[in-house]
Amino acid sequence: MKRTTILSLALLLSMPMMAQRTTSISLNPAEAKDKINKEIYGQFAEHLGTCIYGGLWVGPESSIPNTNGYRNDVLQALKDIKVPVMRWPGGCFADEYHWMDGIGPKENRPRMVNNNWGGTVEDNSFGTHEFLNLCEMLGCEPYVSMNMGSGSPEETAKWVEYMTAKDGPMAKLRKQNGREEPWKVKYIGVGNESWGCGGNMRIEYYSDLYRRYSTYCREFNGNRLYKIASGASDYDYNWTEVAMKQIGNRMNGLSLHYYTCYTWNGSKGSATNFNKDQYYWTIAKCGVGIEEVLKKHIAIMDEYDPRNHVKLLVDEWGTWWDEEPGSVRGHLYQQNTMRDAMVAAVSLNTFHQYTKRIGMTNIAQIANVLQSMVLTKGDKMVLTPTYYVFKMYTDNMEAINIPLYTISDTFKAENEQKGSPERVAPYVSASASKAKDGTVNINLANADLDNSNKVTIDLATIKGKIQKATILTSKDMKDHNTFEKPNVVAPANFKGATIKDGNKK
Ligand code: AHR
Repeated sequence: MKRTTILSLALLLSMPMMAQRTTSISLNPAEAKDKINKEIYGQFAEHLGTCIYGGLWVGPESSIPNTNGYRNDVLQALKDIKVPVMRWPGGCFADEYHWMDGIGPKENRPRMVNNNWGGTVEDNSFGTHEFLNLCEMLGCEPYVSMNMGSGSPEETAKWVEYMTAKDGPMAKLRKQNGREEPWKVKYIGVGNESWGCGGNMRIEYYSDLYRRYSTYCREFNGNRLYKIASGASDYDYNWTEVAMKQIGNRMNGLSLHYYTCYTWNGSKGSATNFNKDQYYWTIAKCGVGIEEVLKKHIAIMDEYDPRNHVKLLVDEWGTWWDEEPGSVRGHLYQQNTMRDAMVAAVSLNTFHQYTKRIGMTNIAQIANVLQSMVLTKGDKMVLTPTYYVFKMYTDNMEAINIPLYTISDTFKAENEQKGSPERVAPYVSASASKAKDGTVNINLANADLDNSNKVTIDLATIKGKIQKATILTSKDMKDHNTFEKPNVVAPANFKGATIKDGNKK
């Protein structure tokens, strides 16, 4: 018999233990067939606030310990979560970025105003070489977003040539700038949020432009490109429909952006100061809320592409709260609590279920921006609760999703915003997968703030022993890590998991 092991992850927020709920889950290993694309664990790094400068990059002259300019603490943290793919340079920034400003001797690189993000002056010291070399160091795929908003097809064509051609004028320029061999670049984004900051286009117009720009993204010396069209925001199903009709197989992937914030009008809600209603509403929005949206976009894609050639890429998702008081306006710096950890776990559990169509997702963003993995300040770095969820979930990458059925008590979530739908969501969210070596991973997230939950899992034909069980929990939903107290929220071994009757736990 193959070694079969259970990894159990529970995210328990409850502390008073007033009562105990029960949940039953049945695994269906007989139906396990879809691989959880490792790219679902993708990251996003934009020239925004201190994501790049200060977050990833401090420059080789910095007193902060670094390797060729990349800060060592962040490098190690990212290696530990096995980042599979990183999207760059934006976001909205991408559609104002001129890549030629970011190559060559640093002292000659022109400056620009980062109009989208606080009007900060960008010195272009982090450019194509710095990004692609970082991806090589991390062993992750680069995902480069082209400037379709204010750039030209020629600029796009030359960038692809510069990065991936062996010979020719752009390769010559690259070699002059110190890089002999082309990089391997697979993922190319053609515009970003083209319905908004990327040019305020209608999908009909965007589709034609996509066809034009993508034509000149050439494949050099065997480098296969995976071309991604700028997709819908949240509930814009018409965008997906027209893109599928007009672009079809000319794209390999179509993106979708889905953020979780309390309201877009005025305050988005505080990252650290929220009440129970707001907490539950957030969990429902990123769980049943995102599932509903995924289902609808996927249904449209299924209709136009029944053979599943074009993938859905949720290349921006996560929580978007008000900026931290005292931080620079427009830099989207926010703290990260147990609530954010729960959002990450519930969203990832949901993405696993749709991995057949979902080719990639990229949480926004990797450092110091929105729902980040790490926060940095000078030479200090803290790992966020969200980071730990990514770490606990790494074993799911490239494992086969095991369908499951969950019976859990539910909660009702309302947003005080007029017109916002009331959602009913389960307290316990789960997913399971089977890795190549036979290890079975079970991921559980219990959103209940007041009650513990006894989860019984029918493992069906799976037999084995528990190898590792990890829990991320804290006393309060608002708990978070700070530079002064970096270990308030951290994973621990979980001792409460047992196997009974051979296959029930
Ligand atoms: O992630 C922050 C911003 O959110 C991105 O730049 C943009 O694409 C989206 O609106």
